[in-house]
Amino acid sequence: MSPREFLRLARFFAALALKERLFPALHVRPLVAELFLTDNCNLRCVSCACWRATTLGELDTEAWKDVLRQLVALPIHKVNVTGGEPLIRPDAVEIMRFARDIGIRHIHLNTNAILLTPVKLDEVLEAGVRSFNISVDGPKPTHDRIRGRAGAFDRTVAHLRAVIARRDTYRLKIRMNFTVMRDNAASLPDIAALAQDLNVRLYLNLATDRTFLFRHADVSAQSAVAQDELAAAVERVKTIARADPRCLPRPADLDYVLRHFRDVVQKGVPCAESQIKLMIRSRGEIGGCWGHDPHLNVRDFPIARIVDEATYRAEHARFFRKDCVGCGSNYSLNLRWRPSTYVTDALWRWGFASSPNAVGNPAGDR
Ligand SMILES: C[S@@+](CC[C@H](N)C(=O)[O-])C[C@H]1O[C@@H](n2cnc3c(N)ncnc32)[C@H](O)[C@@H]1O
Ligand code: SF4
Ligand code: SF4
Repeated sequence: MSPREFLRLARFFAALALKERLFPALHVRPLVAELFLTDNCNLRCVSCACWRATTLGELDTEAWKDVLRQLVALPIHKVNVTGGEPLIRPDAVEIMRFARDIGIRHIHLNTNAILLTPVKLDEVLEAGVRSFNISVDGPKPTHDRIRGRAGAFDRTVAHLRAVIARRDTYRLKIRMNFTVMRDNAASLPDIAALAQDLNVRLYLNLATDRTFLFRHADVSAQSAVAQDELAAAVERVKTIARADPRCLPRPADLDYVLRHFRDVVQKGVPCAESQIKLMIRSRGEIGGCWGHDPHLNVRDFPIARIVDEATYRAEHARFFRKDCVGCGSNYSLNLRWRPSTYVTDALWRWGFASSPNAVGNPAGDR
């Protein structure tokens, strides 16, 4: 991170601190755009609604390029390319390369990596992508069952290994994304071991049925995780981490994971995610948060006008204080600027057992 970027982030979080304590209506402009290139997909995950219907009328290549030009002018400094599965779009690489060419310095890709063959990986790297989240939802049988495709694990992990092999050359940031849900909660210790084996950072994403892409009765079944099973799995991850913390989540993050499945909102932790991101969906709807159903569209209005508009600003203030459906998205970012979470981590490191409800945990701050 350059000193300028560090300053920009510091300013952003300072503004959030002011917003939390003094000026609830303070407007904080987003720094990152999440581009849902498509809602369609090549897998059939039990936790996801994307593949259950075909989405038509998505933005075409030129419309995405226009969005990117507007984002640079805003200015936005990072784009996260996601979906659905973004790599099913034949123009995905062209769109990412265009983002780089017009000056977006940070391009991140979320993918199931099924299509991230060696040839595609070369193209994606050439297009400027330097950060990856690759989804692995468990050991082979669990992953294949959850993802609805035999052989998915082998393919995804082979492609993940190839990305890891390029890490030093391209200075890549890579995370293995494991979405905690009913059918894989018990696999947490196995996935922790796999992350350490691959030497890749593990991110525990949290299943929800409350936000767009994930609203479906079958998903609701997956977002109900038994507390005792999850607590035992989290405890085992902490035991692994005590022997070797490499690649594993912070204790404060692990505690949040456990709480998520009994309190999806966790109002005590304000939502920085909704402030830092601007979400642009595959058909052009634009909004500031996962749980939000936007009524404005980039096809109708300039992006700069939308983000400075009164309704958008009022919604932003509401999202920040978690007056929302709750989703747990990017909780790790939400915790990173809370000083109490560093106390939790330090206490754990010094041998005190961290507990999800302990003082020093944000839930205990309420
Ligand atoms: C929607 S996918 C898009 C990118 C890509 N298709 C993939 O699977 O990585 C982004 C992330 O959402 C996760 N996810 C799936 N179902 C979810 C749910 N119900 N709640 C929260 N995240 C979920 C996926 O596991 C994946 O890590
Ligand atoms: S989680 Fe990703 S891979 Fe799975 S169905 Fe949803 S979009 Fe597709
Ligand atoms: S926690 Fe609430 S405000 Fe934050 S992204 Fe999720 S739904 Fe939006």
